[in-house]
Order: sequence, then structure tokens, then C-alpha cells
Amino acid sequence: MGKIKVAINGFGTIGKRVADAVDAQDDMEVVGVTKTGPNFGCELAIKKGFPLYCTFDNKDRIEKFAEFGYECLGGLTDLLSISDIVVDCSPGKLGEENLEKYQSAGVKYIFQGGEKHDLTGLSYTSSANHKMNLNAQGTRVVSCNTTGLSRTLVPLYEYCGSLKVECTMIRRAADPGDSSKGPINAIKPVLKVPSHHGPDVMTVKPEIEINSLAVAVPTTIMHVHSIIADLPRDHGLTTEKIIQMWRSTPRVIVMHGSDNRIKTTAEVMELARDIGRKWGDLHEIFVWEDGVKLVGDRLYYFQAIHQESDVIPENVDCIRALMGIEEDWKKSVSKTDESINKYYSIS
Ligand SMILES: NC(=O)c1ccc[n+]([C@@H]2O[C@H](COP(=O)([O-])OP(=O)(O)OC[C@H]3O[C@@H](n4cnc5c(N)ncnc54)[C@H](OP(=O)(O)O)[C@@H]3O)[C@@H](O)[C@H]2O)c1
Repeated sequence: MGKIKVAINGFGTIGKRVADAVDAQDDMEVVGVTKTGPNFGCELAIKKGFPLYCTFDNKDRIEKFAEFGYECLGGLTDLLSISDIVVDCSPGKLGEENLEKYQSAGVKYIFQGGEKHDLTGLSYTSSANHKMNLNAQGTRVVSCNTTGLSRTLVPLYEYCGSLKVECTMIRRAADPGDSSKGPINAIKPVLKVPSHHGPDVMTVKPEIEINSLAVAVPTTIMHVHSIIADLPRDHGLTTEKIIQMWRSTPRVIVMHGSDNRIKTTAEVMELARDIGRKWGDLHEIFVWEDGVKLVGDRLYYFQAIHQESDVIPENVDCIRALMGIEEDWKKSVSKTDESINKYYSIS
């Protein structure tokens, strides 16, 4: 079988990262990325050698790219006609419109967490439900927060057999490259209660009973989760065993905050920059070891999520699931991560 031909529709915060992660793999290739017009970001696509297409099919819009010196190879329809699968990285809420285009082109499709589960009737995280997504026509990689919750809660659930969770999402107000959102000097409770994040975990692992609240705070670099999980009686776990469990869980980093002087998200992101992935990304969920405590059957912990990047390797695993080329999620995860790390020469 040749390489899987992947289209990236939307080359913004998530799209450019997914394109790089796909480019790092030896079983798939980027056949094109789309931009709405000749704006910033086209330069990056050209530099990376990703064929550039227009989000729309109008001749006028396609020709506009050339006026700014960018070679545009056609519209979205042209790109879909040479693709096996499209990763939709357009801004949220465009799903219905784009879904029709993918269905009429007959390509497989992956949406992101800005779309609702109902759009596809199927959602994805690598650790929770890779098998359920095998050979499906389309799915949705859940949001950065839901992905983060799934990373630490799924192994806990698999060990215990039941889990009741209450959590608060302390959310970054905006991405670093986004000047249009706030708050800049306030703490904003999300007044939709419960917030969608916890219940969204149940789209990939319905067995976990979970609810959440959310507040937005004036920071751009990470989300923090404050989590309380009630384990069943006779769980046989200790704080130390739970920490060990997460240490051996893919894409989770557990570190002592006080000993290592990693007390806030600022230091976590500095650590991420030291790792050396592009954009200073941290694909892993960061758990503060000294913030984990089991009291009786109740577990307390904090974790930090790099919102722009934890979903990136999940998209690569999801492509393998939909194309039916790797049944074992752990094998896919290790192939994805090794390839990405090699791409950035991280040993
Ligand atoms: N940012 C995060 O932290 C984050 C984390 C997890 C999941 N997500 C989800 O990922 C998705 C993408 O978010 P993002 O942050 O990457 O957004 P973004 O930075 O605003 O990028 C969106 C991209 O889509 C393009 N676009 C605009 N209209 C389009 C259309 N009609 N069809 C196709 N593409 C279109 C934009 O093109 P131009 O550049 O030409 O304007 C831009 O490249 C959303 O569902 C979001 O909820 C975001």
C-alpha cells in the first residue's frame, strides 16, 4: 500500500501543526493545505513544500494568490479529488457546510473539537476508543481539554472499572497568536453549567461519569485542570501507584513541581521549549506529582494542557484508525511520537 494522501483544510493554529506531524510519518503524506486567501501562513506552507490550495473553488479567489506571488494549485474540490482523507482544521462551527463537501468528494474526514459530537456521531482519542474508530468514514478528534482529561482518566478507569469525576477547567483566554479574545483583566466563569468539557469525555469513554465547570483566565499559554475523582471501594491503589501508572502512560509527563522548580504553567512551557519541538509545543499532559493525593477513595490532582498541541499526535493516530492500518492504539502512538521526535531530532 502506498502512503495515505492527507489533505489539511485550514492551515491555522491546529492545521499547520497537523501538517508537520503528518509530514513526519512514513505511512502518510500531505497532498495539500488550504488557505482562504494569500495571507500570512502561505509563506510557511511554501517553505515546507506543502502544495497550496484555496479554501474555496471560485476562480477569482484562486487567482488572487498569484498576485501576491504564491502558487495556488486550485480550490478545495481539486485538493479533495487527490486525497484519501481530509483533516478539517477550519474554525469551529463550519462543520456542517464542510461535511457535505467531504461526503460528495467521497473522502474520509476528521473534524476537530470545535465541532459537536452530533456532526459525526463518533469522536476519538487515542487511548479511549481507537478500535471503535477503525475503518469509520469520519470522526471528530475531541478538544484539547477533553483529550487531556481522557489521557489521565482512561488508564485510571481501566484499572478501577468505575470512576466518578468532578473537575474545573481553568482555561487560557486565547491562543498566543490571537488578539481578538479576552478577558485581559478578569476571571470569567463559563455560565453554561456543566461545561461541555467533562460530558465530552463521555463521547469517547461513556463509562466514566464526569461533570465539569470552567473559568477563563487572562493567560495565553496553557489550561490547568483541577480534578477530583471518586474511585470505587477496594480499588487497591495508593497515591504512589497512581503516579507510577501515569508515568507509564503514553503522552503523560509526571514531575515534582517543588523539587524541580516547575511551580506554574510558565515553567512547564519553558520545559516544553527545552524539549525542542517546533512552536515550543508540548504534546504531553503535564501532571504535578506533588499535587496528586489519594484520600480514602477520593483522588485529587492538577494537570496542565498545552491547548495548541496535545491534539496533534491524536490526529495522526486517528488517520491510521480511519484508514484501518493500525488496530493497536499503543503501536500507533509509539510510531507517531517516535517519528515526530525524529523529525525534530529529539532523542
Ligand atoms: N487553537 C486551539 O487551542 C485548539 C485546540 C484544540 C482544538 N481546536 C479546534 O481546532 C479547530 C481549528 O482551530 P484553530 O485554532 O486552528 O483555528 P485558527 O487558528 O483560526 O485556524 C483556522 C484556519 O481555518 C481557515 N479557514 C477559515 N475559514 C475556513 C473555511 N470556511 N473552510 C476551511 N478553512 C477555513 C483559516 O484560514 P486563513 O488562515 O486563510 O484565514 C485558518 O487557516 C477548531 O475546531 C478548534 O476548536 C483548537
